[in-house]
Amino acid sequence: MMKKNIQIAIDGPAGAGKSTIAKIVAEALGFTYIDTGAMYRAVTYKAMQQDIYLDDETKLANMLAVSTIDLKPSAQGQLVFLDGENVSDAIRSNEVTASVSQVAAHAKVREQLVAQQQKLAANGGVVMDGRDIATHVLTDAELKVFMSATVEERARRRFLDNQKRGIVSSIDKLQEEIALRDKMDSEREASPLIQAEDAIFLDTTTLSIDEAAQAILRLAQEKML
Ligand code: DC
Repeated sequence: MMKKNIQIAIDGPAGAGKSTIAKIVAEALGFTYIDTGAMYRAVTYKAMQQDIYLDDETKLANMLAVSTIDLKPSAQGQLVFLDGENVSDAIRSNEVTASVSQVAAHAKVREQLVAQQQKLAANGGVVMDGRDIATHVLTDAELKVFMSATVEERARRRFLDNQKRGIVSSIDKLQEEIALRDKMDSEREASPLIQAEDAIFLDTTTLSIDEAAQAILRLAQEKML
């Protein structure tokens, strides 16, 4: 019997192509795409708006407890609503990007977001991307992929992505920022970015978006048999 509503977990560092590829995979399978990084970004955005010190774990957790973060699929991709306001663009600013690792390092923030993510994926039929999906959020996911690429290639992709969004950036600076974010995400105590033992490694450095998406779709189809 076909097992249709599987969970697909995609983890990896910034700029590995996770969100672009996860979206294509979700669409091809008729699954829901869930970008968990957007949730950490929304928390960071709100904290910055409210001038909350980003190292104050308790204040951040209390703020999050009275906030609502909704992810809604749309023709332009996943939209992010924070307390009813569309913050999809605001959460991609350089300021939020530079600070989000600091917020994502707090266990009390992660606990609340992980619980929400688990609820969203409870019925399966999801492609969820993040840093700790295979290791903490969806530990029983039928397919786990750890996607990466060289820092140079990831910085180049972010640069092009920023250009499309009208954000001015420098490749060298992006490379530095990505390397720093990798370090913070991988070395933090709470759910660090690490490949799950049962995850399949996919190096996207020399793969096109379509090649990477097809590779995951092939793996997904095997799991759905
Ligand atoms: O994928 P992204 O760049 O939007 O992620 C933003 C930040 O959130 C990134 O620095 C790591 C963190 N993050 C996390 O810790 N756990 C997740 N599941 C998703 C993102």
